Amino acid sequence: MKINKRSIIVIGSSNFDINLKVKNIPVTGETILSSDMHTGFGGKGTNQVLTIRKVGGEADYLTCLGDDIFGELYLDYLKKKNFNLEFINIIKNQNNGIAIVNIDFEGRNTIVVYPGSSSFLSPDIIFKNLDRILEYEIIMTQLEIPVETVEFIAEKKGSENIFVLNPSPINKDYDYSTLLPKVDILIPNEVELSQITESETANAGQIEKASKKILDMGAKNLIVTLGNRGVFVNNKDIQKFIACTDFKPVDTTGAGDAFTGAFLYKYSKTKNLIASADFANKVAGLSVTRYGTHESVPDAEEISNMRDFFKY
Ligand code: RIB
Repeated sequence: MKINKRSIIVIGSSNFDINLKVKNIPVTGETILSSDMHTGFGGKGTNQVLTIRKVGGEADYLTCLGDDIFGELYLDYLKKKNFNLEFINIIKNQNNGIAIVNIDFEGRNTIVVYPGSSSFLSPDIIFKNLDRILEYEIIMTQLEIPVETVEFIAEKKGSENIFVLNPSPINKDYDYSTLLPKVDILIPNEVELSQITESETANAGQIEKASKKILDMGAKNLIVTLGNRGVFVNNKDIQKFIACTDFKPVDTTGAGDAFTGAFLYKYSKTKNLIASADFANKVAGLSVTRYGTHESVPDAEEISNMRDFFKY
């Protein structure tokens, strides 16, 4: 298989985000007023692909949009951003995915996603585009699309493709043991790591143990994002914690997507797991100091102006 020069394709969800600032996250039965709102073009797929592009890379995007007003707005947005529309599917008579994001004054959030059109990103759509998809060196996906589709991609990928999975949102009832041996790079956060392995991940020792379980289950490389505790990189040769700069968060929404996108960008250029995780850690750290998902990601110019901080 000949690998295309444009090396990354992201396959994932496009949600219209409604972000609400709240003093506290409401509990069951509580109605509260929000002090601020903004809308955004989110979804883990979009956030990741836009991060790759923003930090200086190129990536194509396969997604499903609805044919409602949110889907129309979304399509206009992707056109404005000069996306290759070859892989953008419009699902007839379906609502676009939406997400309601509550962000508290500490920058923490809860998110409810209605997948809508994303749940129509079927193995059949992948099959129809398979020859083209397999031309990309890196194939990236998450779990806001049907898991059968993720399994199908993993099954069909060639030995020259690098299949990267960000297992978010995690499905607690799913048995990952068949999928993981086909995953080249798994990028969970500590909660997802804990749920896949059914282990505690509260301290470094527990994270190392749970990570070993993932490698034993067959994933080749593991990058665990640990919020303000940094990142853990693990494969058969590497076991390394990378610390995080102490940023004051105002909005952590999409920090995992910023990490994943920035990681993929750097990895596609260097094939160096540690350098890529370090770079992504810094991009994600900066992103939580501002509001928004991909909007908060530093762009290539800002990164270049912060050369001393990024050390590249
Ligand atoms: O990771 C952040 C994203 O999660 C939001 O953009 C929202 O759409 C949900 O997918």
